[in-house]
Amino acid sequence: MQQAASDLFADDPATPSVLPLGAQALLLRGFALAQAAELIQAVRQVAHQAPWRHMLTPGGKPMSVATTGCGPLSWITDRRGYRYVAQDPLTQLPWPAMPPAFAALASAAALRAGFAAFAPDACLINRYAPGARMSLHQDRDEQDLAAPIVSVSLGLPAVFLWGGATRAERAQRVPLQHGDVLVWGGVDRLRFHGVLPVAPGEHPATGACRINLTLRRAL
Ligand code: SIN
Ligand code: FE2
Repeated sequence: MQQAASDLFADDPATPSVLPLGAQALLLRGFALAQAAELIQAVRQVAHQAPWRHMLTPGGKPMSVATTGCGPLSWITDRRGYRYVAQDPLTQLPWPAMPPAFAALASAAALRAGFAAFAPDACLINRYAPGARMSLHQDRDEQDLAAPIVSVSLGLPAVFLWGGATRAERAQRVPLQHGDVLVWGGVDRLRFHGVLPVAPGEHPATGACRINLTLRRAL
């Protein structure tokens, strides 16, 4: 059934399976569909070791998304600011290893978007319950801005905000479905982006939530 959905998209000229969002930014519709069940199972295993939590912004407000992470490094925020760390501050243990399926998918998606040899060392995992959102921001805590960002959508749909190089620029609204993958890098690496509040719903793969994997090269 999932395969049928991606075939449908591919055949419909109104919904091309690859949608350019910028000179070096692409939406790859359904790119992760075939691996989605495996990815979600791996997310459950990661969250078993590194529990979901609502991290605090530097201003002290809990984020609406619940977060975990995996890889040699993962991104955190707390009152001391934004940074990458090797240990989960909740458990004091190293982050769970990056599941091979995450790294393989990220590298294949990056290659499809023109970025060869992408080897992520960090995966941030965000869980959006209905109402959770991500305000406009740039991903700029990484040392190596030459590497792209690969962002995988699982479960409930969402509307992605794809902004410009400045916060003031009007953001485009891009609907994201289960299995969609976004890749942005190069001249588009510092584009502002965010996610509108997720609408209530149930998805067969995840239940009442959306899960986003953001794969990055931090160092
Ligand atoms: C993010 O930019 O941190 C999340 C993007 C998404 O959930 O699609
Ligand atoms: Fe981001």
